Amino acid sequence: MHKLLKTISLISILILLFTACSSKEVSNLSQESEPVPQSATTYTGEDVKTIGISMPAAQLERWHIDADLLKTLFEDAGYNVLLSYGDNLIDAQINDINQMIDQGAQLLIISPVDSDSLGPCIENANKKNIPIVAYDRLIYHNPNLLAYVSYDNYMVGQLQAQYIVDALDLDNIDSDRCFNLEIFSGDSADNNAIYFYDGAMSILSSYINDGKLKVLSNQTSFYSTSISSWDTELACERMEIMLSSYYGTNQQLNAVLAANDSIALGVCEAIDSSYNKDNQIIITGQDCDSCNIQNIKDEKQSMSIYKNLNNEAYATFCIVQNYLNGVSTGDDLTKGYDLDFTIRRDSDTYVSDNVYITSYLLSPMVVTNANIDKVL
Ligand code: GAL
Repeated sequence: MHKLLKTISLISILILLFTACSSKEVSNLSQESEPVPQSATTYTGEDVKTIGISMPAAQLERWHIDADLLKTLFEDAGYNVLLSYGDNLIDAQINDINQMIDQGAQLLIISPVDSDSLGPCIENANKKNIPIVAYDRLIYHNPNLLAYVSYDNYMVGQLQAQYIVDALDLDNIDSDRCFNLEIFSGDSADNNAIYFYDGAMSILSSYINDGKLKVLSNQTSFYSTSISSWDTELACERMEIMLSSYYGTNQQLNAVLAANDSIALGVCEAIDSSYNKDNQIIITGQDCDSCNIQNIKDEKQSMSIYKNLNNEAYATFCIVQNYLNGVSTGDDLTKGYDLDFTIRRDSDTYVSDNVYITSYLLSPMVVTNANIDKVL
């Protein structure tokens, strides 16, 4: 009997130990899976005289506009401004940023080529207590990020997708009708591109699943549809291959979800040169680039998303000014400024290394032929 009791107590101890470990593991897991709020910081460094601005590329129209707006705002406020463009190359941008630090930049405003790969210059900046603002695109692996300023990128995708749903009247077509759609997403290294895609697919997936929308190429995942560097030529080539492979004699293409205007431009070029049917194709875009605005007026592109870059740059300026004047990142860093546009302070959307990044998100809007002259 004694031996039996010993065995039972040994087994019960083992069971207790196992449940303790597993509950501990579970509690770790639950901590791991629930991100924590960013810890608030207040600027304690020396007076900032020089601001470094690093844009991802000179090739795309919008980044020139962003850079000029930011440079003017900060120079008019008496700062020296250092400016660089990363040519869509990660190493070039890292080098640019480290050079700006060497040249005396005391605060950095960066839109990363690759949201994941700025580690070397983040380390350099943090060592020298140089605050960083992530401009338009999130920067990962920097818990001290002053702020992330962007548009509501998930909403951008939703607006593009809803435009397609409404233009094809998918909620009212007969159950036996369907339309053909192809998807062109942004650069997979750009964190925004994933949010544009997810926002769009949160609306389009149900129509694809119930057969109202068909993707003849079967390319529907983010990675299979992403266009490197948002490149117009690559988008054009992909569209041409698709048209010749899937849209021969009896298949119409009805809609293209193009994540931004540089991609939409390539899609339009391919359709102009290689699509031999006369149906109107719904094509989305984003940024209201000048040649895409012309394509909307010529009814080659259906819509774009307008993101007022004056507002995005001015919000960034206000946030930086408040921070350098001692306002904590735990407060609303736009307070005290009379902003004539909507901006939402968000602390539960963007996560980096299990920390919620405090973000300031502006609201995008749809531009079509109907409102183009009013909005732009
Ligand atoms: C995104 C940006 C878009 C688009 C794209 C290409 O990150 O939010 O406006 O232009 O980059 O630059």
